[in-house]
Amino acid sequence: SKNTIILGIETSCDETSVAVVKNGREVLSNIISSQIESHKRFGGVVPEIASRHHVEQITYIVEEAMAKADIQVEDVDGIAVTEGPGLVGALLVGVNASKALAFAWDKPLIGVHHIAGHIYANHIVEELDFPLLSLVVSGGHTELIYMKEHASYEVIGETRDDAVGEAYDKVARTLGLPYPGGPHIDRLAHEGKPVIDLPRAWLEEGSYDFSFSGLKSAVINTLHNAKQRGEEWSKEEIAASFQASVVDVLVTKAMRAAEDKKVDRLVLAGGVAANKGLRAELTEACGKAGLKLTVPPLELCTDNAAMIASAGTFLYWNGNFADDRLNGQAGLLL
Ligand code: KG4
Ligand code: ZN
Repeated sequence: SKNTIILGIETSCDETSVAVVKNGREVLSNIISSQIESHKRFGGVVPEIASRHHVEQITYIVEEAMAKADIQVEDVDGIAVTEGPGLVGALLVGVNASKALAFAWDKPLIGVHHIAGHIYANHIVEELDFPLLSLVVSGGHTELIYMKEHASYEVIGETRDDAVGEAYDKVARTLGLPYPGGPHIDRLAHEGKPVIDLPRAWLEEGSYDFSFSGLKSAVINTLHNAKQRGEEWSKEEIAASFQASVVDVLVTKAMRAAEDKKVDRLVLAGGVAANKGLRAELTEACGKAGLKLTVPPLELCTDNAAMIASAGTFLYWNGNFADDRLNGQAGLLL
């Protein structure tokens, strides 16, 4: 049968990315233009700046992705774009670019949920098999998602306050580390010991939900009270203790959900999937429980368009197309 080639576009936050993916798994190109440098001095992503960057970049990145993939317009079967969730002004740049391309090239348009994209980064690594459980951890999300088949998502647990990545970035800021702070905490955590006893929010018996704002406050209070109590903690000790608490909760809840839902496969997704501590503990726990674990390589963990094209391929195969009313939706549900 014929190959399916999907052009993917991702502009939900601070990465402008365009990719070409064949049959949902083979990445022909995946161009990622990061704006991190432009947002650093503000300590976080500034929505207006993000939108402007996307506008300036998008046409060039489309050209680059097509050239790198070495294909012609006639080879493209459909155009998949992140429709949400994310920053609405940023999303609109990708959505409008996709609509223009779909119209000009006469191709079907496909709207993709950003989190579905993160999960499908794993399909690029190793074909998904079902049922599976996905642990999605990023700057905006902390979710446990059960999938019984392709393009089917059941959110069984989510954060009630801060996302994991957000907690990492806030704690990093308290320690005077640059944005985004997650990778810095991860690095420091490996140089220190988790000597501070920080809380773990297990919530009600049986709940798969998460909460990280209490932990973040506990870190801030620990720092604040240290002087009065005559304690002195190094950044490494604080980072290690914080990371130990986060990883303990994430791994314990994911493993319990995997057991309750009787899945044999676990996939990790989102920017925080880059975390070395999380990867190591989850790998060990899955090994013990006999679960197959997939973790995407770094460039597929953070925002990219290849994952959007991959998830979009299944919507294309299902005939799940969008029309010219497709809109960017900041709070789109899975
Ligand atoms: O998925 P992503 O690129 O963007 C969102 O959709 O949010 O995730 C970005 C988040 C940031 O909060 C960043 O600090 C965090 O992922 N992150 C990490 C690591 N690498 C990135 N957090 C902990 N450890 C890391 N190694
Ligand atoms: Zn993301």
